[in-house]
Amino acid sequence: MSISIAPSVLSFPHGSLAAAAGKLAAAGADWIHLDVMDGQFVPPITFGAEMAKDLIASTPIPFEAHLMVNTPDHQFEAFAEAGCKRIIFHAEATSHSHRLVQKLHSLGVEAGIAINPGTPVGAIEPLLSSLEMVLIMTVNPGWGGQAFIESGLSKVEQVRKLAPKIHIEVDGGVTPETLPHARDAGADFFVVGNYLAKAADISAAMRLLRQ
Ligand code: DX5
Ligand code: ZN
Repeated sequence: MSISIAPSVLSFPHGSLAAAAGKLAAAGADWIHLDVMDGQFVPPITFGAEMAKDLIASTPIPFEAHLMVNTPDHQFEAFAEAGCKRIIFHAEATSHSHRLVQKLHSLGVEAGIAINPGTPVGAIEPLLSSLEMVLIMTVNPGWGGQAFIESGLSKVEQVRKLAPKIHIEVDGGVTPETLPHARDAGADFFVVGNYLAKAADISAAMRLLRQ
C-alpha cells in the first residue's frame, strides 16, 4: 500500500488554522487530520464542526475528523455536513461502536475507530470487516508533541494480520525516525503534527517523511 500523510493542525497556531491547512496542502499533504477535543474525553478543548466547515471550504484536500469526545455520535451529522470524508471515533467513548459505524456509513462518510495505548486490538476485532480505518494511538490523546509509544507497533501488526486491506493509521509522535517502524509494522496512513508544525521548511519536512 502507498503511504498517506495526514497532518494534524493541532500544533499550528489556532488563530490561523486555515493558513496552516493551506500550507500543509501546498506542501503535499494527502489529507488534513482534525483533532476534535471536548474537554471531557481528554482535558483540552479544541474546535467544533463550524471550524471544520470553514477549514474544509478553503482547503483543496480531504479532511478526517478525529473525535476525542464523549458521545461521539452527537457530532456525526455536523462533521459530515461540514464536509469530512472520514470520521474516526474512539472505541473507549461508546458501548455501541457497531451501531455507530453503521450510522457513519448511513451518512455517507468513511468510518474509523481509534484505540488508545491501553486498549487491546481485541476491543475492535468484531468491527474490522466493516471499518475503512483503524487508528492506533501512539501517544495518549489530548496533546501534540509527545514521544512515540512503541507498544503501538505490535497492535499495528495485529490489525494488519487480521485485516490485510484496511487502512491503518498511526497517530502521535510520528517523525522521519518513527514513521519507518510504523510502516514496516503495516501502517499506511500517518498523522504528523508537531514535527511539521516545528519545521522551518514544511515541504522539505514532508519529503523527509515520505523517504
Ligand atoms: C493527539 C492527537 C494527535 C496529535 C499528533 O491527541 O490525536 O493527532 O496531534 O501530533 P504529534 O505528531 O505532535 O504527536
Ligand atoms: Zn489525532
